[in-house]
Amino acid sequence: MRILSGIQPSGSFHVGNYFAMIRKMIHYQEAHDLFLFIANLHALTSLQDGASMARNTIEAAASLLALGIDPERSVFWVQSDVPEVAELTWILSNVTPMGLLERCHSYKDKIAKGIAPHHGLFAYPVLMAADILLFNTNRVPVGRDQKQHLEVARDIAMKFNAVFGPTFVIPEAEIDDEVAVVPGTDGQKMSKSYGNTIDIFTTKEALRKQIMSIVTDATPVEEPKDPDRCNLFAIASLFLEHEERQDLRARYLRGGLKYSDVKKELLERVWAYFGPYREKYRSLLARPEEVAHVLAQGAQKARAIAAETMAEVRKHTGLAYRA
Ligand code: ADP
Ligand code: TRP
Repeated sequence: MRILSGIQPSGSFHVGNYFAMIRKMIHYQEAHDLFLFIANLHALTSLQDGASMARNTIEAAASLLALGIDPERSVFWVQSDVPEVAELTWILSNVTPMGLLERCHSYKDKIAKGIAPHHGLFAYPVLMAADILLFNTNRVPVGRDQKQHLEVARDIAMKFNAVFGPTFVIPEAEIDDEVAVVPGTDGQKMSKSYGNTIDIFTTKEALRKQIMSIVTDATPVEEPKDPDRCNLFAIASLFLEHEERQDLRARYLRGGLKYSDVKKELLERVWAYFGPYREKYRSLLARPEEVAHVLAQGAQKARAIAAETMAEVRKHTGLAYRA
């Protein structure tokens, strides 16, 4: 089974990215055909500063390698290093109904936030469909925010197959209920673009600030508290085994719990949790040429497969016109 996912280098990776996608991908590389890429063409829809894009791309790659992505056991590359994806995006655009894109929440939400709509934002799901279909993907592990984009990719694949003949595998989303939407420090979905993240690789001081800023309610210390409506409980739960979670739940219900104590414990937990990977991350960042070399090799593997798919697509569409 082929499993593929992508992540934008639009900022530092956070625990929402980790639990919804990165951790699973690392696990899957043991037994599956794993494809993971850094979606810099998608990031271009929001990040329009060349120096930051280049730096973030290396940091993204170093993060994923440090956390355990093994380039020998997986195909790991940067999206723009496989230009076939842009060609396929154009071809797929012609079987993508406008209405399908107009209904996309992520596009509508961005516009509602005041982001000036441009064509890249609108066409974002078509590029994502191309990412997935180019590699004959069966499964795509993502957070819930990407569910609709996966439905769009399936619709586009089916439409293309109906118009031009069987070409693409129809992909399926894989979304885990417990981590489908990890809340941020303000209670909204944690996202690089909302400034509400808890980052995987940062200094202890910065991590402390992020964790201390988790918004909690004003229930007095001595009163019982509701873990199921508490953002801090939801985030802390990610780092706790079942029994520890039950213990924390009991402390909430009993009364006498100080949110600041839970935050201090969480800080130590998160710091220790990512501790084993921190040194590797630093050492990779100190050798960016090596990271770039790994990515170039990954791109070569990815392009070989992309070329096969594109040969089929060109044949079926008649873009390959020579007899
Ligand atoms: P961000 O929204 O922070 O920019 P990306 O869009 O690059 O993150 O998402 C990378 C992966 O992480 C996707 O599969 C996405 O669904 C998942 N993801 C991002 N934020 C969350 C979250 N708060 N909860 C669950 N999954 C998330
Ligand atoms: N749009 C995804 C996100 O923001 C990233 C992404 C790009 C992706 N192409 C993909 C995810 C293909 C899965 C498959 O999270």
